[in-house]
Amino acid sequence: MNPQTFTYCCYAWLSLAVIIHFLLFFVAAPFGRHTSEKWGPMINNKLAWILMELPSLSIMLFFLWTGTNSTSSFAWILFACWIFHYVNRTFIYPLRIKPTDKKMPLVIMLNAVIFNLVNAGLNGYFLAELADPEKYGSAWLSHPITIAGFLLFCTGLFINWRADHILINLRKPGEKGYHIPRGFLFTYVSSPNLLGEIIEWAGFALMAWNLPALTFAIWTFANLVPRAKNHHEWYHEHFGDYPQKRKIVFPFIY
Ligand SMILES: NC(=O)c1ccc[n+]([C@@H]2O[C@H](COP(=O)([O-])OP(=O)(O)OC[C@H]3O[C@@H](n4cnc5c(N)ncnc54)[C@H](OP(=O)(O)O)[C@@H]3O)[C@@H](O)[C@H]2O)c1
Repeated sequence: MNPQTFTYCCYAWLSLAVIIHFLLFFVAAPFGRHTSEKWGPMINNKLAWILMELPSLSIMLFFLWTGTNSTSSFAWILFACWIFHYVNRTFIYPLRIKPTDKKMPLVIMLNAVIFNLVNAGLNGYFLAELADPEKYGSAWLSHPITIAGFLLFCTGLFINWRADHILINLRKPGEKGYHIPRGFLFTYVSSPNLLGEIIEWAGFALMAWNLPALTFAIWTFANLVPRAKNHHEWYHEHFGDYPQKRKIVFPFIY
């Protein structure tokens, strides 16, 4: 694909993120606590997570393996960050979540497959084929923006994993209900796991300093800020003693 067409594809995908962002404030994506049978055929929750995240992992592995520039520069570090995140999201996270009767609408799983195909496709193809190998040379590696981006990525990853770990362990074996999470960043916000994910991909975009990585960071923000708001309102509806000062997703701000 020529670079101009690729740039137009990124802008088109970015425009869709803006539309979806506003829609998600009115319609909560129906999975997890917001799941609903109104959305047609349903699929087992754990299986859905594995199937919908697998394309992202597979596509990045494919481009790392076959790409012209993937290993001839330090671009492999960006592939490694992505793959590290998605090994957890595809296999470890779904196998760790506590089994409940909850299912996911098939249509939501298919939407997530498209989301992952496009984001991993744009990022993998750019790093493997379009980026100038000089861009990810030794000057990039030691640049303060790259280092800051990497630290931000690691911080976000830690927050995301730690918060998911706390949430998953709120249920005792066999339990299916919900509890108010406390401690760690839950003192400040309802969804530190989503905050962590937003920080993670903002860090990745800073490190990568390219349009598809920025596009993915914006998509993550567009998806997760409304989801955090939906979670926050759900807590207030279901727990009369929910901490009043806790914000939605950004400590002290929102
Ligand atoms: N990149 C993206 O655009 C994107 C989009 C969506 C999600 N994600 C990531 O995927 C992960 C899951 O997202 P999510 O919104 O589904 O997370 P979530 O609602 O916070 O749920 C995480 C897990 O903890 C359980 N849980 C949550 N709150 C609980 C509570 N108060 N008491 C007991 N158990 C509780 C959930 O069970 P139930 O399933 O039974 O509610 C689920 O198994 C996050 O790490 C998120 O960052 C990323």
